[in-house]
Amino acid sequence: MNLLIRNARVLTLANPAGSAPVADRLRRRKALGELAVLQAGDVLVAEGKVAAVGPKVEAPAGAEIIDANGRVLMPGFVDCHTHACWAGDRIAEWEQRLRGASYLEILKAGGGIHSTVRAVREATKKQLAAGLKSRLELMLREGTTTVEIKSGYGLNTEAELKMLRAVVRAGGEWPGTIVPTALLGHAFEGDLDEYARMVVKEMLPEISREFPDIAVDAYCEKGAWSVDACVRLFEKAHRHHPIRVHTDQFSSLGMVPEAIRLHARSVDHLEAATKADLLALAPSTTCAVILPCSSFQTDQRFARAGFLVDAGGAVALATNCNPGTAPTHSMPLAIALAVRFCGLTPAEAIVAATVNAAAVLGLKDRGTIEAGQRADLVLLRHKDERALAYEMGGNPVDVVICGGSVVFPSTRASDAPTGKPGG
Ligand code: NIG
Repeated sequence: MNLLIRNARVLTLANPAGSAPVADRLRRRKALGELAVLQAGDVLVAEGKVAAVGPKVEAPAGAEIIDANGRVLMPGFVDCHTHACWAGDRIAEWEQRLRGASYLEILKAGGGIHSTVRAVREATKKQLAAGLKSRLELMLREGTTTVEIKSGYGLNTEAELKMLRAVVRAGGEWPGTIVPTALLGHAFEGDLDEYARMVVKEMLPEISREFPDIAVDAYCEKGAWSVDACVRLFEKAHRHHPIRVHTDQFSSLGMVPEAIRLHARSVDHLEAATKADLLALAPSTTCAVILPCSSFQTDQRFARAGFLVDAGGAVALATNCNPGTAPTHSMPLAIALAVRFCGLTPAEAIVAATVNAAAVLGLKDRGTIEAGQRADLVLLRHKDERALAYEMGGNPVDVVICGGSVVFPSTRASDAPTGKPGG
């Protein structure tokens, strides 16, 4: 079935002349803010891909036609950092935080990540997949067509594998693309040294066997994994797996230089990163993934993305959807916060949420609207894309096209979310 979207303000995000070659698709500096807009353009979709883009594209016989009437058509959002597979909720803990307890105090007392670990261990794979599926439907309605989902709430090999299998199962029933990540160093039980040794010796080989291409992640923070433990894991993992690391969320412990040395795909968070570390990061191939929804939900300390961009660094943007620090599925909210608090312009936030986010996941077939790219497209309610950042709350998305098919609005009753907290 062919589909023609007519008369749209098309944000093609096509590779700007003179920017990095396609192999390194991370956009930086001026290229980070270039949307390559086609005013009043047409986009033809065939066999799941973008077939043609231009000021006037002929409709093949029998094509379905959507008249955009000047509204913005853009690539689907790529949410490149989430923990969207979980069980239970953390509403009571959130109330504790409103009364003054900090995230790290709650973690140290055995709550936080550990309370979600207990709930995940009790849940079946089917229950985990059902909760995730419900959240994925909410994401899709707000324009997310590719989602990275981490494990990390299992903390033993069996439960980590259960999570990753649940992610794959839910992904098989969702029209978008799921990219699982093995978050093997999220927290620890008992002694960190012994636990990290077990992860490297036992858990990593099991994960590698079943998920040979998966990225490996860790959380470098006081009360979570030390720099030393992360480096031990990554030294082993990076021979076969891309590596990513949560770092400098609340404390700057020295992980950023190590991540650069190990050619990590990304360093995620960076709210507490020093200027020296950001300057070291800027010329490297490691991308900063900023997560402003977590800053908003925890301590209002935001990553200085504008500073990094001015220094030539690459930045991607994600929701960090999780029950502890980011109970949201909304990329438009992440964009609104990144522009208000992290120093990105609306155009930079859009590129960070599409092309650069796809590059972090190693996906070259999306993030732009160009012939041959996967047809993951979002038609906004707006005629000016800056409204994505300007508005707060509400859904700016009218239509979502995923792999060439219109998936929202949907007529399937089974797509209704459950109504439980967090989906
Ligand atoms: O990126 N901080 C580490 N991981 C998540 C939070 C996970 C949780 O609290 O359940 C984050 O913020």
